[in-house]
Order: sequence, then structure tokens, then C-alpha cells
Amino acid sequence: MKAKEGTCILWAALDNGLYIPNLCAVREIKPPFASCRLCFVEIEGRNAPVTACTEPVNDGMVVNLNTSKIKRLRNTAFELLLSHHHLDCAHCDKNRNCELQNIASHLGLKLKPKRFKRIPRELPIDSSHTLFTYDPNKCVICGKCVWVCQKQGSGILDFAYRGIDTVVSTFSGMPLSDAGCTSCLACVAVCPVGALVAKLGVGPIFLPRAGI
Ligand code: FES
Repeated sequence: MKAKEGTCILWAALDNGLYIPNLCAVREIKPPFASCRLCFVEIEGRNAPVTACTEPVNDGMVVNLNTSKIKRLRNTAFELLLSHHHLDCAHCDKNRNCELQNIASHLGLKLKPKRFKRIPRELPIDSSHTLFTYDPNKCVICGKCVWVCQKQGSGILDFAYRGIDTVVSTFSGMPLSDAGCTSCLACVAVCPVGALVAKLGVGPIFLPRAGI
């Protein structure tokens, strides 16, 4: 496999047609968020698995993408993530275009795993903006919207609270319509799930530069 020096394992693998599950990675974010914990791989000669989005490739490096340890770690991270996610694919605008569905299919997992108790959030949905809706109950805290909102110059989205209570929010949780949003819709374009979705009638959304 060929890769530019300094590239992380994740991008090297994806650029060479090898899929590694990932939700929070963006090429331009350095250092990476590394928050989803889905991209674990094992490197020969290392004691512990590493996240592919944080580990640069090296000449001669041997990387295993699918050992039993990796599967266990990935599946656990994914199932924990789903235990908070509002699952209603049939009525979700992102149905069939959702990264959670893609990852579940890649890992051979169900979207309603039974291993962990489900503790879905019940936070208010923000429909105040004329062009899009934000449903925090579907957010996977990947941080892409926070990053792109800052990159586009608005910077109205950020993380609030910690741990299991972490949410993406405007300052003081004010409605999106009052928060100074410039309506670029970049957050909608980068959201990998159904948390930020365009309202009916809003045409296709393109980012000025993908980087994702
Ligand atoms: S893609 Fe590596 S931790 Fe999310």
C-alpha cells in the first residue's frame, strides 16, 4: 500500500480502498478529534490497538484492521454510541444515507444492539431555523458541525456539558434562528447522521471545499 509520509493510517487505508469505520475524522482537522473510537487497528509489534485517525503511517508498518481485539473494541464503541441514539430510521430524513447504517452493515451489527441498556436522550428539537432542523437526540458528537461552523466563520456551534451529557449547542442553548447563523448549511452537509437536516424544499447542499 502506498501513502504520503505523515498521512494517518485511516486516510491511507481509505485512499487505497480499504474501509475502516469512522465517524469523527476530517482530513483538515489536526490533531484529529478521535472521539468516536471506531477506527481502532492493531500495528504489529505494538502492545495495544491504536486509533487509525491519529497514527501516522511508517515505511514497512504492518497494520491489522480486523483482529478479534479490534472487532471487540469497535463493536463496543458502536453499540455504546447507539445506546444514546434516537433510532427511528423509517422516519429519519437520513434513512439509507446514514453513516450509522453504513457502519452497522460493514460490521455486521444490528442498529438495535441488546448488549447495553438503551438510554436515549429526550432533548428538544430545534426547528427554529427556516432552512434546517437540529435534533440533538440523533447527534453522535462527531464534532464535524462544530468544526465546519467555525471554519465557515460563524462559530455558533460548540460542545456543551461533559461525558454522557455532551451535546452540540449554540451559546446558552439559544434557538438557531437567534444565534447568528449565516445559513451556509455547511453543518447540514457534514452531519453523517440525521441530526442536522435540511427542511423540505431546500435544494442539494455543497460544501465550498469538502475536506471530509
Ligand atoms: S475516526 Fe478515529 S476516533 Fe473517530
